[in-house]
Amino acid sequence: MTERVAAASGRGATADRVSAPLGRRLCDVVENRQAGGYRIFSVLDPVGPEPRAGQFFMLTAADGWGQREGRPYLPRAFSVAEAQPEEGGQRLDFLVEAVGPGTERLADLQRGDGLWVTGPLGRPFSRPSELGPDIAGAILVGGGIGLAPLAIWRRQLADLGVATRTLIGFRDRDHAGGVEELFSCCEVRLASEDGHVGHRGYVTDLLAVLLEGDSPRGAAVYACGPPGMLEAVRAMCAARGVAAELAMEAPMACGFGACFGCAVPLADGGYMRLCVDGPVVKAARIDTALIPGSGH
Ligand SMILES: Cc1cc2nc3c(=O)[nH]c(=O)nc-3n(C[C@H](O)[C@H](O)[C@H](O)COP(=O)(O)OP(=O)(O)OC[C@H]3O[C@@H](n4cnc5c(N)ncnc54)[C@H](O)[C@@H]3O)c2cc1C
Ligand code: FES
Repeated sequence: MTERVAAASGRGATADRVSAPLGRRLCDVVENRQAGGYRIFSVLDPVGPEPRAGQFFMLTAADGWGQREGRPYLPRAFSVAEAQPEEGGQRLDFLVEAVGPGTERLADLQRGDGLWVTGPLGRPFSRPSELGPDIAGAILVGGGIGLAPLAIWRRQLADLGVATRTLIGFRDRDHAGGVEELFSCCEVRLASEDGHVGHRGYVTDLLAVLLEGDSPRGAAVYACGPPGMLEAVRAMCAARGVAAELAMEAPMACGFGACFGCAVPLADGGYMRLCVDGPVVKAARIDTALIPGSGH
């Protein structure tokens, strides 16, 4: 179930996105496992359409929501990390880092618990050929928990036969995980600021080396991670004329365009609502990925 949707800013940006069924639906948690410093929890979605990579869901635990002085009150936004058909529906995987009351409750979900799900929402990643006629390859750049949407994108790109290189960076051992579980299919080049794995330094160091050896139009860059990393990727790609898409975050209260809490300034003036015009954004549309209130 896909439809052609014009971005609300009306500047010709279109993308095939999968539309969410109306209303939220109750799903059963089928698994919750440790993945390094993060957790991966999975639900069986009985009715939802298969999401596209880069789309997200608004999640609320059926029990224990609002139990810490009323928090968390609103649902929380999560990128889908994998989606696979299974008997009785489709299994959705989410990667979570516990940073506050909502993510702590979600990280604590047990098999058999209920989870209210709204989605899939937002604009997905574009295929390389949609970003430029000669672009055939993809470079994925993930930082920390930002590897989640790149995992499903890596698999969907492989299904499309797109040659893909994957770079993932972590801050330190406590803020790392999910690579073995979500990228078991393929080679991943790693970086860590504390040197516990891979190159000691930033993942953008690895990207700089790849871009140095590439033709600017050989591969598109797809990135998700903390604002500082996204801004470094945006600036590097802009300087080299490389097409890039960034999966961004902003505080989201509704997830479907009603509250304007996720407004992000555009390079040519005005704002977009990241939940409906993103979260995947063509890097050339923004002047900076350093969005106040985003990232943790
Ligand atoms: C489209 C999208 C996809 C996301 N995907 C994932 C994911 O796959 N895995 C994951 O662990 N997290 C993801 N997040 C971030 C997640 O939604 C927030 O960490 C969560 O809402 C925090 O809720 P809380 O109650 O745990 O903490 P809060 O007490 O609400 O916040 C804790 C800290 O996180 C910051 N924060 C809160 N909400 C956001 C937000 N929306 N964006 C950036 N920073 C925020 C706050 O400034 C604060 O520093 C995503 C966010 C968006 C917008
Ligand atoms: S989160 Fe409400 S408008 Fe975007």
